[in-house]
Amino acid sequence: MDHFQIRDGVMHAEDVPLTLIAEAAGTPVYVYSTATIRRHVRVFREALANVESGAEGPWIAYAVKANPNAAVLATLAREGLGADVVSGGELLRAIHAGVDPAKIVFSGVGKTADEMALALRHGIGQFNVESEPEAEMLSDVAVALGTTAPIAFRINPDVDAGTHAKISTGKSENKFGIAYHRASAAYARARALPGLAVRGVAVHIGSQLTNLAPLETAFTKIGGLIETLRAEGHAIATADLGGGLGVPYDPALPLPPSPAAYGEMVARVTAGWNVRLMFEPGRLIVANAGALVSRVIRVKEGAADPFVIVDAAMNDLMRPALYDAWHDIRTIVPRSQRFTANVVGPVCESGDTFAMNRPMDAVEAGDLVGFMTAGAYGATMASTYNSRPLTAEVMVDGNNWAVVRERLPIEALIAADSLPPWLK
Ligand code: LLP
Repeated sequence: MDHFQIRDGVMHAEDVPLTLIAEAAGTPVYVYSTATIRRHVRVFREALANVESGAEGPWIAYAVKANPNAAVLATLAREGLGADVVSGGELLRAIHAGVDPAKIVFSGVGKTADEMALALRHGIGQFNVESEPEAEMLSDVAVALGTTAPIAFRINPDVDAGTHAKISTGKSENKFGIAYHRASAAYARARALPGLAVRGVAVHIGSQLTNLAPLETAFTKIGGLIETLRAEGHAIATADLGGGLGVPYDPALPLPPSPAAYGEMVARVTAGWNVRLMFEPGRLIVANAGALVSRVIRVKEGAADPFVIVDAAMNDLMRPALYDAWHDIRTIVPRSQRFTANVVGPVCESGDTFAMNRPMDAVEAGDLVGFMTAGAYGATMASTYNSRPLTAEVMVDGNNWAVVRERLPIEALIAADSLPPWLK
């Protein structure tokens, strides 16, 4: 459920008409609903109410990559969430927004020594280590700083997540984690390294999962591994089950498994593990809390269907071009006539297409449309391709709203470049 609803003939984000935001902030503009974000946190927490997770309860580390806007992070920090970060930049953003460093987990295959040192100096809660060379480097960095790094190894369980190939991470051919059969050797090696404190295990098999079965298979493997590792003398205190639960994009498709169904499965599979469970949800928290609002520039005749040319483009919302992703396209002020159209942006590539043969309101130049479920992996994946300034972002809370990221003028883009001496 989200808080983008038609009221008095106009789509509102909570209590604010999107027409008002589009007028004041310009288009294209990402709009986020605080109430939706908070609701998703509550739903996820409630879904985990029955899992066994030690005295402290589950550790929920929001995957910052999904939406790193400071206003989103600060909202989540106030809800008590931690953060899953994958770069020094995400780490600094999370801390800046008020996330408790002790609740931060650092994932990713390419952590540099500088990033490791930064995270150690901030006292983050856990490193999810993805290879043995990384473990060695982290130990060296920790020793040099006179500290120890709390770690889990991310295990690659060789499970097909059944999602888009580009966001599938748990197959043996993927770059992520260490192979299940290498785990014992990796943990033994890590125990011998002076800068590491081995704490747990981690797994994340992919994103936008619409079926719980692959998650259950992966978690079951992890449960077996915890037993093996304990038998080998390792004190396993945490199990990080990653993120990945899918959200509804297309109202015509069956709903993905609910957080409650996910929580029941987790409770069943992890019963008796005797660990603190960790979770890294991204999309689930923010996807339906955001819409990209865009204005129709013109409608152009096509060979079959007309082209609706909007002022947002693939550089603003890459998901359709990159993953053939489907986003619902709604009119902000609904029209009574319908047509079938191709919705495209102004960028000079045929890939700059949001939808083909889409039944939709028969929009005209000047109308506003909303690309729904754009709160996750939307603004954060934007680029300035075609020298288009990054989209502005707005946050709504009840009847309040504020620009939480300015649209930088094109002059700022031009000023960021400099000429070499021989061209001056
Ligand atoms: N943990 C790790 C280690 C991850 O790699 C990811 C996502 C997450 C957690 C959060 O997954 P979520 O709960 O959001 O599914 N840009 C793509 C999605 C890439 C996901 C990358 N990793 C998209 O737009 O679909």
